[in-house]
Amino acid sequence: METGTTGVAAAAAPAGPLHSHTLNYHHSHYPPSQHHAILSSTSILIIIISGISVIVLVLIFLIMAILRRIKSAKTRSTSFKDNGCVNNNSCRFSSHHTITFTSSPDVRGGCLYGSNLGHKSPRKHGVVQVFTYKELEVATDGFSETKVIGRGAYGVVYKGILADGTVAAIKMLHRQGKQGERAFRIEVDLLSRLHSPYLVELLGYCADQHHRLLIFEFMSNGALQNLLHHKQSQPLDWGTRLQIALDCARALEFLHEHTIPAVIHRDFKCSNILLDENFHAKVSDFGFAKMGSEKINGQISTRVMGTAGYLAPEYASTGMLTTKSDVYSYGMVLLQLLTGRIPVDTKRPPGEHVLVSWALPRLTNREKVGEMVDPALRGLYSRKDLIQVAAIAAMCVQPEPDYRPLMTDVVQSLIPLVKNLS
Ligand SMILES: Nc1ncnc2c1ncn2[C@@H]1O[C@H](COP(=O)(O)OP(=O)(O)OP(=O)(O)O)[C@@H](O)[C@H]1O
Ligand SMILES: [Mg+2]
Repeated sequence: METGTTGVAAAAAPAGPLHSHTLNYHHSHYPPSQHHAILSSTSILIIIISGISVIVLVLIFLIMAILRRIKSAKTRSTSFKDNGCVNNNSCRFSSHHTITFTSSPDVRGGCLYGSNLGHKSPRKHGVVQVFTYKELEVATDGFSETKVIGRGAYGVVYKGILADGTVAAIKMLHRQGKQGERAFRIEVDLLSRLHSPYLVELLGYCADQHHRLLIFEFMSNGALQNLLHHKQSQPLDWGTRLQIALDCARALEFLHEHTIPAVIHRDFKCSNILLDENFHAKVSDFGFAKMGSEKINGQISTRVMGTAGYLAPEYASTGMLTTKSDVYSYGMVLLQLLTGRIPVDTKRPPGEHVLVSWALPRLTNREKVGEMVDPALRGLYSRKDLIQVAAIAAMCVQPEPDYRPLMTDVVQSLIPLVKNLS
């Protein structure tokens, strides 16, 4: 370097007196040759010393990194062992936003996963618990037939008593394959984070070997579907129907507007609305739910899932999903509360098979609106309320999604009606 600099300076310097000046620039007390010898031996020494220091430092860093790795590996294996999940990659599942769930204590192969959707951490008192299959077997008398409270397309629901005395609804899923696993994961992921008095609470889950079970708070009055359409149950009165309509509207309002990103339920229907001992309604079944973060131009392109009769027409035909698809399904539930009819009933006379087509022209016709009211109400309802609820239902089931209201608007329209009841 030094030689180079001198060289450049020398090359740049004009000949004559200035040249000697250039040499003097070194402030040298030694003859040039001696000067270079001393300089080179010093710099060699410096180079050797700094080389050794660098090597020593690198070695120290390497040793520290190795020690840290060994330490963290020990900690991780201890925590997996504590969860009973000793081994491998299958114990973790990564999604866009990942945290790691603990699996059932005696899971060996398949642990769970979770995703932080930017919601609050699980509730303080009532953290979602992890159960072993054995514990749930004990809770349900060995999954006895006498404990069955319902059967759905994807599993059997048992009434059980947990070790701490809590009465629970234990849903054993028999959905196999990727789709079943996905639905299970979504339900656990979402319900671990979404807490609202209008959603059925997830108490825990079990992912013990191939078993997949969900443990929910027990809703003693069961599904709205049974109360509305099974003749053996006492008909729901007008006030209770309005209260249920408001509870459900609040549930969807929470999912669409108070959750970031918004959640689209995708399977909102009467069998997924459960009633507690006071007939307060809560929404369940989040296996098909979609997060608004998956949107493209405000829509989610997806495989059409859900239940025939509740599907918004644009979603059924194109698979493009928005929160307005849930609003349509909500409109269908409102129609059932008003009429006591199911969405598709081929036993009815021609022209009345499809509830929405039969109801739409009547909903906004003051003369005809009374004709469609559930005869089980025996005329015990407020005509003024009926006209308002029918108008809300008509808006919700509009074929054009943009004309459907937001769930906040539905909530605001129903509040005064429910207030007036009391
Ligand atoms: N938390 C709960 N408390 C009380 N009963 C429940 C609970 N969850 C489910 N049930 C009962 O079990 C039944 C079956 O529920 P499940 O969710 O498996 O199927 P579904 O909603 O009826 O139909 P689908 O499979 O199409 O969703 C419900 O209709 C209800 O009667
Ligand atoms: Mg259900």
